[in-house]
Amino acid sequence: MPQTSERTASFTESVIRRMTRVANQYNAINLSQGFPDFDPPAALVAALEGVARTGPHQYAVTWGAPNFRQALAAKQSRWMKIPLDPDRHLVVTCGSTEAMMVAMMTACNPGDSVIVFSPFYENYGADAILSGAHTIYVPLRPPDFTFDPAELRAAFKQRPKALILCNPSNPSGKVFKREELLAIAALAEEFDTFVITDEVYEHIVYAPHQHVYFAALPGMFKRTVSCSSLSKTYSITGWRLGYVIAAPAFIDCARKVHDFLTVGAAAPLQEAAITALHFDDAYFAKLLASYTRKRDVFLDALNVAELSYTIPQGAYYVLVNVSEFSRDDDIGFCEWLAREVGVAAVPGSSFFHEPVRHLIRFHFAKREETLAEAGERLKTLRDRWRRSHG
Ligand SMILES: Cc1ncc(COP(=O)(O)O)c(C=O)c1O
Repeated sequence: MPQTSERTASFTESVIRRMTRVANQYNAINLSQGFPDFDPPAALVAALEGVARTGPHQYAVTWGAPNFRQALAAKQSRWMKIPLDPDRHLVVTCGSTEAMMVAMMTACNPGDSVIVFSPFYENYGADAILSGAHTIYVPLRPPDFTFDPAELRAAFKQRPKALILCNPSNPSGKVFKREELLAIAALAEEFDTFVITDEVYEHIVYAPHQHVYFAALPGMFKRTVSCSSLSKTYSITGWRLGYVIAAPAFIDCARKVHDFLTVGAAAPLQEAAITALHFDDAYFAKLLASYTRKRDVFLDALNVAELSYTIPQGAYYVLVNVSEFSRDDDIGFCEWLAREVGVAAVPGSSFFHEPVRHLIRFHFAKREETLAEAGERLKTLRDRWRRSHG
C-alpha cells in the first residue's frame, strides 16, 4: 500500500475517545468523554419526532437552513448583545468541532502560527496540524489557571495569525475574567491577530462568574471568529449542530471551506432544533441550576474521597490532583482507576503542552444518581491503591 500522508502521522487518536473504550471494557462509570447520560429537553425530542414525518429530509442550504439561521441569529444576538444578520454573519456547521476547523482553515495559511493556551482541548492540536499551522503554547498555571501577560506578549511577538480562546475552558473550568479578555484584545489589536473562540460552554458558568463574549468587547467583532454549538446547551451532542459567527468578509470565505468539507449540517436536525433556539430565559436558568447541583454533588464526593481539585468556574469538568498516588504516570493511573475502582477519567497530560502528569480530568454531565455511584466507588480508591501498591 502507498504511504498515508505525513499529516496523519503527526497526531495520535483522541485520548478522550480512547478512554471511553477503556471505560466500556471495564464496565466503569464513564466520567471521561464529556457527554450527558440524560435526555435532551422533551420539547426538542417531540419536535424531532414531528420532523421525521414532515421533513425536510434533503440537503439544507449549505451554510444553514434560513429558518434555523434566523432563530440562531436571534438567540445569539440576545445573549451576545450584538446585532447579527442571519444572512451575513453565520455559517451553520457540524458541531463546534467543524466550526473550529473551518475557522482555522479560513484564517490560516500553511506555515502560520496560532497561540493556544495550555491546558487545551485536544482538538486544537489536530486542527492546527490539519490546517498547516504551528502552535505557540502559553501556559495557564494551575491551580487558578492564570496566564503571565509577559509570556502572552512574547507569544504575540512571534506574529501569530490567530489566538484560540476556549472560554469557559475545557479542561480547567476556567472562565476568563473581563480584564484578562481585555488584555488579550489589546494584544490582538496591536499585532493584528484573529481571535478564534470556542464557547460551547457559554451557558454553563457558575455564580459569581460571568461569561463575557470576546466578540462583544469594544472593537473586537471584526477580528473575532466565534465558534459554538447546541451540543452542550441543549444536551444534544449527537445532533452535530454548531456554528461560526464572524464579520461578513470572514463568513464569505468560511462558507466555501464548510461547503467543501461537509456540504452542511443535517437538515432534519436543524429544523427540529429551531424549537430549542426559541426557549426563553427560564430554560437557561434551569440548565445552570441543574449543572450547579451536579457540580456540588460531584465536588462533595471528591471531598469525601479526600481528593484535591480546582473548583470549576464553568463547563462541566474538574481537574483532580493525583500526585499522592502517581506523579508521572497519569495514563497508567487512569487505566488502573477504570479497572480497579470502576470510574473512568482522562489523563491530564493529554491536555497540557508542559510535562504535567499528576492531574486527571473527570466530567460531571451525568445524572445525580450516576455521580453519587461514582462517589461511592471513589471512596474506595485509597484502600484499593494501598492494596494494589503495598
Ligand atoms: C471545548 C470543546 N469544544 C468543542 C467540543 C465539541 O463540541 P461539538 O459537539 O459542538 O462539536 C467539546 C466537547 O467536549 C469541547 O469540550
